[in-house]
Amino acid sequence: MERVGYLSLVLMSAVSRKNTILGIDIGGSGIKGCPVDLKTGEFAEERLRIPTPQPATPMAVVETISQIIDHFKWKGPVGCGFPGVIHRNTVFTSANLDDSFVGFDLGNGISKITGQPVGVINDADAAGLAEMRFGAGHDFDGLALLVTVGTGLGTALLYKGELIPNMETGHLLMKHKHKLVDAESLAADSARRAQDMSWETWAKHFSKYLNYVHALVRPEMFIIGGGIAKKADKFMKLIKCDCEVRVATLENKAGIIGAAVAGAEMPQATSRKARKKAD
Ligand code: BGC
Repeated sequence: MERVGYLSLVLMSAVSRKNTILGIDIGGSGIKGCPVDLKTGEFAEERLRIPTPQPATPMAVVETISQIIDHFKWKGPVGCGFPGVIHRNTVFTSANLDDSFVGFDLGNGISKITGQPVGVINDADAAGLAEMRFGAGHDFDGLALLVTVGTGLGTALLYKGELIPNMETGHLLMKHKHKLVDAESLAADSARRAQDMSWETWAKHFSKYLNYVHALVRPEMFIIGGGIAKKADKFMKLIKCDCEVRVATLENKAGIIGAAVAGAEMPQATSRKARKKAD
């Protein structure tokens, strides 16, 4: 009897988890995860957030991700967004987490410990995928550039919904007070807070940044996401750009949703190898 109960529970959870992938968003202050229904883009369970370990070394972060995977008793593909350039699951830059991430095969690192196949994607790219499928850009099929404005300044370029990864235009150099500075240090939300900028001052820097990126990449539409999107009423009217500008609609869910999309669609070659090793 007990066994029948157990089996039906397993069956029920398999049925309810159909089309569902675990998405994880690695940030400077929190690592957040949730199973995502890829048909609707909705969270399938309650999100879990664990503070990012300090120092945020690769092994400490992998350990936290493994806690999230255990929490959801997750078996199956996992998608993971990381704030840096990612090629084939390996981290190439790490502006806001520990430098020792550079060169680390994050997909393999997670797979080795958890036994699950993992796809890793840049966090802004993840948010871009999510907004184009389920959010502000769902009706748009041209060239769109999403800018996430939070601790970092992340960008994602999408053409007809297809991602061209690792744009990273948040680190372009901009002229400021006769010096060249990293755009992130002027236009990220962390810069606005740290330098106690008025919305007018921040919007001036951000507009300059948008126009600069527009001249380089020529998107037809920008989507502004990240933590700042919640305060759109404060800054949208101040932004000056000869291009359509929309506000992201998925709020802080976009990173997790897009990571789940990547987990479902990215090749898992390296991670499968790791899975064999773990068996
Ligand atoms: C990183 C990007 C990331 C962005 C948002 C930047 O500092 O270089 O890779 O997408 O922050 O987290």
